[in-house]
Amino acid sequence: MQIIRTIAELRPALRAKRKPVLVPTMGNLHAGHLSLVRSAREHGDLVVTSIFVNRLQFAPHEDFAAYPRTFESDCELLAASGCDIVFAPTDGEVYPEAQGYTVHPPPALADILEGQVRPGFFTGVCTVVLKLFNMVQPAAAVFGKKDYQQLLVVRSMVRQLALPIEIVAAETVRDASGLALSSRNGYLNDSHRAEAAQLHMALSKLVLAARSGRTDWQTLEREAQEFLRARGWQPDYVAMRRQSDLGEPSMGGPLVALAAARLGGTRLIDNREI
Ligand code: PAF
Repeated sequence: MQIIRTIAELRPALRAKRKPVLVPTMGNLHAGHLSLVRSAREHGDLVVTSIFVNRLQFAPHEDFAAYPRTFESDCELLAASGCDIVFAPTDGEVYPEAQGYTVHPPPALADILEGQVRPGFFTGVCTVVLKLFNMVQPAAAVFGKKDYQQLLVVRSMVRQLALPIEIVAAETVRDASGLALSSRNGYLNDSHRAEAAQLHMALSKLVLAARSGRTDWQTLEREAQEFLRARGWQPDYVAMRRQSDLGEPSMGGPLVALAAARLGGTRLIDNREI
């Protein structure tokens, strides 16, 4: 496995490859990321994992400085998982000058849910993802369904800007309690870790209610938020939306239940497709 820090070094490493596949990450890798790497292997002939903590997608009060950076162990995990190239550019390599051009995704998709709580987040994500796409020029890129809205935003960017890149969605990996794996789980103390799977439980209840034929979504969403609040969570949202574009359920099509909530100082997100 090669570790590459600059675009100039990356180009010759990619030259002979027909189908490079990119797995964009911010590092602090866990089994969820490694499943993205395995999925990437099935979609091309060279797996490039990028590790870059993108300051553009963090608001000033968020955890950019504290975001866990574990480069050595990330590389060990990647080497054991079939990754060919780790692309770990410096901040100056990705942003050599102030980023004046940014990608603004449509508000109907990007200013709701995560985008409502984290204004500008998806502009930061789209801008760095487009830059990483231009640097690596992959034939395909793998994104986890855990960040469901991010996956839809990236898909719509690729579609609308006619980028010649296949976007592959990978299933969420959970621990035995049902908790979706996330780098931010590392912030949880022992008692919060035991509680954390209740976010998934709240979503499972919504899924069961939907499967039993209930369609009073606002009541169900409120009940799920009350369930979490009673257990000490501070929910940002619990929402039933349609899978294709996060439109209201009444617009028709398969649904997805999404939630984001804070437990102590840690913000967790999760979703369940129905
Ligand atoms: O999902 C993430 O880790 C990040 O949002 C991504 C896609 C690597 C862009 O910085």
